[in-house]
Amino acid sequence: MTGGFEAKITETAGLVEAALDAFLPRSDGPLGRVTDAMRHSALAGGKRLRPFLTIAAADIFGAPRDRSVRVGCALEMVHCYSLVHDDLPAMDDADLRRGRPSVHKAFDDATAILAGDALLTQAFEVLADPATHPDASVRCRLIADLAQASGKIGMVGGQMIDIYAEQKAFDLHGIEELQRLKTGALIRCATTSGGVVGEASSEEIAALEAYAEDLGLAFQIVDDLLDAFGAAEDLGKPVGQDADMDKATFVKLLGADGARQKARELVDRAKDRLSRFGEAAGPLAGAADFVFVRKN
Ligand code: IPE
Ligand code: IPE
Ligand code: MG
Ligand code: MG
Ligand code: MG
Repeated sequence: MTGGFEAKITETAGLVEAALDAFLPRSDGPLGRVTDAMRHSALAGGKRLRPFLTIAAADIFGAPRDRSVRVGCALEMVHCYSLVHDDLPAMDDADLRRGRPSVHKAFDDATAILAGDALLTQAFEVLADPATHPDASVRCRLIADLAQASGKIGMVGGQMIDIYAEQKAFDLHGIEELQRLKTGALIRCATTSGGVVGEASSEEIAALEAYAEDLGLAFQIVDDLLDAFGAAEDLGKPVGQDADMDKATFVKLLGADGARQKARELVDRAKDRLSRFGEAAGPLAGAADFVFVRKN
């Protein structure tokens, strides 16, 4: 990782992990089991890129960290839920996640489904709490944006197309649309929600969205490259699954060099989109470079 960026994402990941730990207190009995499964998913490392984007965007507008960390946690909870369900036998059937057995392996399928559901719903509980922002209209906007990014016209829709796309020929436009929903929607929402909690203007939020649109696409292209050419020890998740399942990916369509070049172009354009924010957007620019060079 690039030096300054590494220190910054490590710092925000620490804040997010402490907050997630507090949001998910252990308990006894059957509720303890679902909480343990939620904790297994949410407190097992991970890059914490989405909350980083939220916090870095909110910092541009001087938002108090206790607010932006809560919003970042909500995004991370939805992301973790999406990973728990993505790994289920009915979906990618992946046994490893973040270097540990995936939730259905450590527990069982039913517990993994419920833990995912509970992470999803708790995200909205966190956003609805006045501690996230004193202004109810800001909270409503955060909730509406996350609902949209998570659901049928967001991540869930993208996952549906991803399954449908197996063994089908997708052109570049089709794959872009799939990735824009599957991965892009939450990355966009993470970034713009930083603007929303920081009470940025609509023009500023639009600039953040343009940045995140390119970043999200680059992120999934690199995910596909890592699935094809990375190592499971670095990634903490299985490799080679996309080819095995004949997934529609940029690597399949453009080849490794073409996919890498496309990701580079998107990362450079993402950084250009930040020009209006000057040096205050340094951490977001660092995130774009990181997305390209990352090894996990
Ligand atoms: C993996 O996301 C799933 C995709 C959307 C491609 P990340 O690569 O951000 O996973 P973690 O959170 O670091 O484990
Ligand atoms: C899934 O994409 C993205 C989600 C919405 C969870 P992948 O299936 O490529 O994610 P990984 O590679 O398993 O992390
Ligand atoms: Mg998948
Ligand atoms: Mg997967
Ligand atoms: Mg993948």
